[in-house]
Amino acid sequence: MLRGEKVTLRAIEREDMEILWRFWNDLDVELAGGGDPPLPVSLERLRARFDREAREGTPDKTNFVIEADGACIGQCGIFHFEVASRHCELGVAIGDKEYWGRGYGREAVRLLLDYAFRVRNFRRVWLETHAANERAIRAYKACGFVEEGRMREHIWLAGCFVDNVVMGILREEWRANLTGDG
Ligand SMILES: CC(C)(COP(=O)(O)OP(=O)(O)OC[C@H]1O[C@@H](n2cnc3c(N)ncnc32)[C@H](O)[C@@H]1OP(=O)(O)O)[C@@H](O)C(=O)NCCC(=O)NCCS
Repeated sequence: MLRGEKVTLRAIEREDMEILWRFWNDLDVELAGGGDPPLPVSLERLRARFDREAREGTPDKTNFVIEADGACIGQCGIFHFEVASRHCELGVAIGDKEYWGRGYGREAVRLLLDYAFRVRNFRRVWLETHAANERAIRAYKACGFVEEGRMREHIWLAGCFVDNVVMGILREEWRANLTGDG
């Protein structure tokens, strides 16, 4: 369990599937975050995936529920672990739109970075977002991510093509950010 001032990151439970299912089927949330065209997903499928992962484990990813004010407001995690070069990808989605733009996502990302660098000993964390997701890009920059590259017009975003932005942060940059040296 990772505790911040506004959010707690905790393990995903089977009971969370229903609220997460609502978030996953919310077109606004999916279009804000997604690189892939949103597809409807059934609750049954999510429960089956949860059961499989609970049984078999998830050696290639670590996911958390984002909890605020006693409720699940979204989820986040690290995945695509690269053991030799010690990097991983980060993902975050606040599904409860009441919590957008109020610093909750930023705090979740900071907790995840601390977990990735200090606890799991990764040395680079990266992510992808589409260029129209200004809220996400600003939140990631505030956590120390820098833009590393762009795949031009890579994403079809329900009506137009937008760039896919690759961002990353190295362990030294994260540490410098903590101490205010960077
Ligand atoms: C992206 C996300 C995690 C960011 O978390 P958040 O709590 O909303 O973001 P924060 O409040 O920490 O920071 C938002 C920043 O964007 C700005 N912002 C808020 N609303 C905005 C808007 N509509 N357009 C542009 N910028 C906006 C804020 O002013 C703040 O920037 P600043 O600190 O430079 O002033 C969250 O909004 C989310 O999960 N959205 C839906 C799914 C998604 O987009 N996931 C990311 C996939 S890459």
